[in-house]
Amino acid sequence: MCGIVGYIGHREAYPIILKGLKRLEYRGYDSAGIALFDGNDIKLCKTKGKVDDLEKKITKEISTTGSLGIGHTRWATHGVPNDVNSHPHYSNSGNLVIIHNGIIENYEPLKKELLKRGYKFTSDTDTEVLVNLIEDIKDNENIKLGKAVQIALNQVVGAYAIAVFDKNKPNEIVVARLGSPLAIGIGDDEFFIASDASPFIEYTNNAIYLEDEEMAIVRRHKEVNIRKIKDDSLVNPYVQELQINLEQIEKGGYDHFMLKEIYEQPHAIKDTYRGRLLTDKAIIKMAGIEDNMKKFLNANRIVVVACGTSWHAGLVSEYIFEDLARIPVEVEYASEFRYRNPVITENDVVIAISQSGETADTLAAIKLAKSKGAFVFGVCNVVGSSIARETDAGAYTHAGPEIGVASTKAFTTQITVLTLIALRLARAKGTISSSDYRHHLLELEMIPDKVAKALKSDEKVKEIANIYKDAKNFLYLGRGYNFPVALEGALKLKEISYIHAEGYPAAEMKHGPIALIDENMPIVVIATKKGHYDKIVSNIQEIKSRKGIIIGIVTKGDTMVKALADHVIEVPETMESLSPLVTTIPLQLLSYHIAVMLNKNVDQPRNLAKSVTVE
Ligand code: F6R
Repeated sequence: MCGIVGYIGHREAYPIILKGLKRLEYRGYDSAGIALFDGNDIKLCKTKGKVDDLEKKITKEISTTGSLGIGHTRWATHGVPNDVNSHPHYSNSGNLVIIHNGIIENYEPLKKELLKRGYKFTSDTDTEVLVNLIEDIKDNENIKLGKAVQIALNQVVGAYAIAVFDKNKPNEIVVARLGSPLAIGIGDDEFFIASDASPFIEYTNNAIYLEDEEMAIVRRHKEVNIRKIKDDSLVNPYVQELQINLEQIEKGGYDHFMLKEIYEQPHAIKDTYRGRLLTDKAIIKMAGIEDNMKKFLNANRIVVVACGTSWHAGLVSEYIFEDLARIPVEVEYASEFRYRNPVITENDVVIAISQSGETADTLAAIKLAKSKGAFVFGVCNVVGSSIARETDAGAYTHAGPEIGVASTKAFTTQITVLTLIALRLARAKGTISSSDYRHHLLELEMIPDKVAKALKSDEKVKEIANIYKDAKNFLYLGRGYNFPVALEGALKLKEISYIHAEGYPAAEMKHGPIALIDENMPIVVIATKKGHYDKIVSNIQEIKSRKGIIIGIVTKGDTMVKALADHVIEVPETMESLSPLVTTIPLQLLSYHIAVMLNKNVDQPRNLAKSVTVE
C-alpha cells in the first residue's frame, strides 16, 4: 500500500506531486509528506492525516519551489501514523531523502548494525533504516547513489517501491521495485514517478512499468537507465502507451468515487464483454481461453484464489463453473492457501482474481501454484499489474479505474468475465445445450440494461437506509448463486459504515444466527424468483415469527415476499446464474447511503487501502 510520486523536469514539482498524491490517496491515507529540492537544499514537510492536511501545512512551513521532488501518502505498517513516522525520511547526514511503499522484513538486524555504527533513528519505520543503510554503503565505499541503492537492496528482505535522491546530486532520482508497483512516466524532457499512472496521465501517455527486482536511474535531460538489482544487467526499457484517461479518474459530478463506480456498472459490464460476447454468431471469443483450451478441458478441477470482494466473485464462479461446465471448483482465500501446503498438481487450473492485480497474498498464492506446476489464469482489472504479469494467461475485466476503496464495479465485471469463461468451457465440453447456451448469451447481453434498471431503486434504497442507519447489526441472507452476494453485501456495509454485518446462506440461519434475531435486527434477504424461491420464503417466515425486520431484494412484480417483508426493493428478472449481477446493486447502494448518512468517509474508510500489497 502507500502511494509514491516523484517528478524531475522543467516544471514546478510541487503542484504535480500534490495532485498526484491526491489521486493516489486510495492506496493509503493516514499521513502524507513531500520533499523538494529548491536549488540549494532539500525542503521537507510531512504530517499525520490526509493530503489535504499536508496542503494546509506545507506553505506555512517551507518554500515549495523546485523542479525535483518526491511525495508519499501512507498506510502504516511499521510505526503508528504520526508526523515522525510519515515519509519522506532523511538519512542521518540529511543528504539523502527517501519514500517507500512496502515492508523491509529484516529491518531489525539492519537497524542494530547501523546503531552500532553510530546511526540515530527518529522514527519507528523500516524506511528510515533503509535510507541510512544506503547512506552507510555510499559513504563507506565512496560510490554513487545508484550503486549504493543496488547494494543495499541486495541486503534487504521484503517488498518495496522506493524513490530516493541526494541533495548533492540533484539531477537524478533513483527508483526500484520488488513486489510494489512503480511506473515511470516519460514526458518531453521530464519524468514522473508514481505507484500507478494516474498522477501523470495529463502530462504523458507513455510509461515504463518497472518489473520486480529492477531499479532505474531517472536523470534530467537523459534516458532512463534500468538495471536488474541482483546482477546489474542492463534492461531495455519497454515504453507502454497508457490506456486510461483523465475523465476516468475524476469524480465526474458524483459526490463520491464509490457512487460514480456503482453507476458506471452498466457501461463497465458492456466494456467487459465487448468483442468477447458475439451473440449474433453465438460465439464467445477470449484469446486467453482459446489459446489454453486444452489446459482447461483437461483440468481435474479449478482452484480459485483471491481476497475480499474478489473472493466473493470467485464464490459466485464456483456455482457457474460447476453448474454450466461441470468442472469441480474450490475457492480459497489466497492468504490461507499460500501457507497451508495445498495439494496442487499440473492437472489443476488456478484462477487468480484481483481488481488491483497487486494484492500480496494473491500474488504469493500464484507463485506457489506455479511452483507446483499448475497453470495459472488471471482475472485482473489493472492492465500491466503484477498479477497480470505473473500469471500464465488471463483476461482483463476492463472495468476502468476503480478508485473508491470499497469494490463495486470490479465485482460485477469479474463475475461477467468468469461467466464468459464458464460458458465458453461449457460449450467446448458439451455440458450445455445450444439453446441454453444461446439463452445465456442473450441474457448476458441484456444485463447492462437490467443493472441500469436496478439502479433506479436508488431513492427507495435511500429511504430504507434512513430508517436503519442507526442499527448496530445487520444480517444478509441468500441462497445458491446469491449466497456470495449476501457475503458481499455484508462486507460493503461493514467496510464503509463500520456497522457489524454478517452474511449467511439463508438455511444456515437456523444453525445458530437465528438466535440473534429480534425486533431490532434488519435482515436483508435476497429472494429473487429463480432459485430456491419457496425455500427462501420459508426462511423469511421463520424470521418474521421471531420479529426480525425483513428487507427483501425481490424480482419485479413479486407479491409473496412483499406480503411478508417490511420493505422490498425490486430488481429486474434474469436467469438465476446471472442474478448476482443485479441483486448486488441495491446492496451496494444501501451500504453507500448508510455510510453517507453516518458521515463516514465513503471513499477512504478507516484502516483500509485499495491495494493491499502487504500480507
Ligand atoms: C472490498 C475490497 C477488498 C478487495 C481485496 C482484494 O470492497 O475492496 O476486500 O476486494 O482487498 O483486492 P484485489 O481485488 O485488488 O485483489
